[in-house]
Amino acid sequence: MQDARRLQADTLGFLLDAVADYGDLLCYPIGFWKVYVLSHPDYVQHVLLDNWRNFSRQTFQFQQFARVTGQGLLTTSGEYWQRHRRLVQPAFHRRHLSGMTAGMFRAVERMSDRWQEKLRGKAAVELDLDRELLRLALEIIGESLFSLDLTREAAELSQELLELMHYVIYRSQNLLALPDWVPTARNRRFRTRLKRLDQLVAQMISNRRRVGHPRDDFLGLLLGLDGEGVSDREIRDEVVTAIIAGYETVASGMGWVFKLLIDHPAAADQIRQEFVRTEMTFEGLAHAPYLNQVIQEAFRLYPPSWLMTRRAIQADQIGPYELPANALVVISPYAVHRHRDFWPDPEQFDPQRFAGEPLHQHKFAHIPFGGGPHLCIGKPLAMLEASVTLAGLLPHFDFLPPDSGVMPIVNPQVTLRPFPELRVKIENRG
Ligand code: HEM
Repeated sequence: MQDARRLQADTLGFLLDAVADYGDLLCYPIGFWKVYVLSHPDYVQHVLLDNWRNFSRQTFQFQQFARVTGQGLLTTSGEYWQRHRRLVQPAFHRRHLSGMTAGMFRAVERMSDRWQEKLRGKAAVELDLDRELLRLALEIIGESLFSLDLTREAAELSQELLELMHYVIYRSQNLLALPDWVPTARNRRFRTRLKRLDQLVAQMISNRRRVGHPRDDFLGLLLGLDGEGVSDREIRDEVVTAIIAGYETVASGMGWVFKLLIDHPAAADQIRQEFVRTEMTFEGLAHAPYLNQVIQEAFRLYPPSWLMTRRAIQADQIGPYELPANALVVISPYAVHRHRDFWPDPEQFDPQRFAGEPLHQHKFAHIPFGGGPHLCIGKPLAMLEASVTLAGLLPHFDFLPPDSGVMPIVNPQVTLRPFPELRVKIENRG
């Protein structure tokens, strides 16, 4: 009982202590179930790559996501998933990403202009950076994947999406909660928010169909799949999946990048110096070494998607351990990224870990984007977005702790969220 309370109150601390006490594979009872927590990169590789077909996403975690996303890429497995992955993959091709760069810079510039406006006549202002980054991420997803200008809606919509995700977490943590259809205030609120999201997506699809001219973006690609027997429902589910999977993750991740740069101003200055000789293009940013080291190291310490689950279809052997059929497997990048055999002094922020060729590194010791066939489809987009955000902001602003001195702690929700908020002080660099 004490364990259960701590698991709720201090999930990440509990997880790290359990891994430290019981090692690379620990079996933990939760309610009626036994959960197998894997933290050795070899075991992670077994599940995500070597024997991935034996591990489905028929888990409680993905069932909860599916309440919002339906049957999209993130929540499905097997042949259905494989077919969809093959169909949508071209939208994330390097050629498209290159074309998205200018739009991303424009979105960052709009945010930067708003900040300059706030700063007018003042030496410094404080703002809720998390809110700003959520809004930015949504605007960028809108423009990059759907050629949609969400400038007006983004602030409100991003909060509504967060609420939908809060509900997903609530359902995950309250196994005995009343079913969705019971009209409690919480359930009604959830259904209203979901309906609003569905209406937005339906409108987006019908507008595009009405305009008729096919575009080369993610939405255009999906709509072009009519001939492949892809239904409207499947299109809706992939659109919602991309929005849900691709905005809070990026915003939360970027929040931690900025938090680390506030704690380590020398790293921020080193990136600024690198920007002076970096071409502000997809290729240029992808090859800016220190910038990418910092992002990788921030995603090691604060992997936005801190928890992945799988269900073993058949009994399996992982290292010396027997895994029964139907076992629930948990992989936490947060714990894997702190494995002492692979990451000396793991709590230390040290971008040098990612300097040079990462040949010495186990491929599955750093898994912020997962790995194997289910590797995040949005990884290149997310990395580009992170680079553009830093390139658009660091040269113009100094980021400092707020006057209260209070910096956030990590709150593990669907992603690692800042608690109570990410209040920062910004100053104009002129
Ligand atoms: C920093 C940002 C991001 C992080 C940390 C992240 C993390 C992840 C992780 C860990 C997975 C694997 C889940 C699993 O194996 O169970 C995943 C899958 C996925 N991500 Fe991301 N993601 C990010 C951004 C994005 C973006 C921008 C998109 C854009 C559309 C996206 C779309 C997806 C989709 C569709 C999947 C499912 C892939 C599949 O199973 O085929 N993600 N992501």
